[in-house]
Amino acid sequence: MTQDELKALVGRAALQYVVPGELVGVGTGSTVNHFIDALATMKERIKGAVSSSVASTARLRGHGIAVLEASEVERLPVYVDGADEIDGTGCMIKGGGAALTREKIVADLAERFVCIADESKRVPVLGGFALPVEVIAMAAPRLVRRFAALGGTARLRPGVVTDNGHPLLDVSGLAITDPLALEAEISQWPGVVTVGIFARHRASVCLLGTAQGVQTLVF
Ligand code: 5RP
Repeated sequence: MTQDELKALVGRAALQYVVPGELVGVGTGSTVNHFIDALATMKERIKGAVSSSVASTARLRGHGIAVLEASEVERLPVYVDGADEIDGTGCMIKGGGAALTREKIVADLAERFVCIADESKRVPVLGGFALPVEVIAMAAPRLVRRFAALGGTARLRPGVVTDNGHPLLDVSGLAITDPLALEAEISQWPGVVTVGIFARHRASVCLLGTAQGVQTLVF
């Protein structure tokens, strides 16, 4: 199976976690696009969705699925999203699609985070994928130096501005052995909007697309 077929497989498999009669939190990316397309087949049975990006909102609405603002919602039973990397404890790197801030906000409303990913995303230690960090522009040079002090190389993602109007740094060269501690540390640096480590909001379940089918990892 191709990587895209594996993404489609887990996108469809995630429907089993959608609670009928309720809202569902929806992430961003090519794997989530498959989930959104599958969700359209049961749109009459859900109240609607809370979306993490302009792109996902457009796709949901294109299918005729109602989209509510995160600010209108107190809780979600489930949030479904992809990942750039996921480790053996459900901690993830996210933000390859530049939607990390809204993804963390919507994930924070949810009781359960269902990660959908093809098997290439499963890693022993996070950090092979350059860590996305949404930042306030005036703080970027200082933050680049802070990451250098940790052994990382931070580069501004060229031509990219997030849905919130901010630039992104991609930080390579970090071996993230303690994701919870590093997320807490970086989140405190002035000028950091959101760091793409999802450890406090790690996955409760991961549906991993493999050549043998969908593997369910429970954390
Ligand atoms: C977007 C994300 C995505 O979930 C992540 O980049 C995975 O994307 P894809 O499903 O296209 O591989 O965090 O900000």
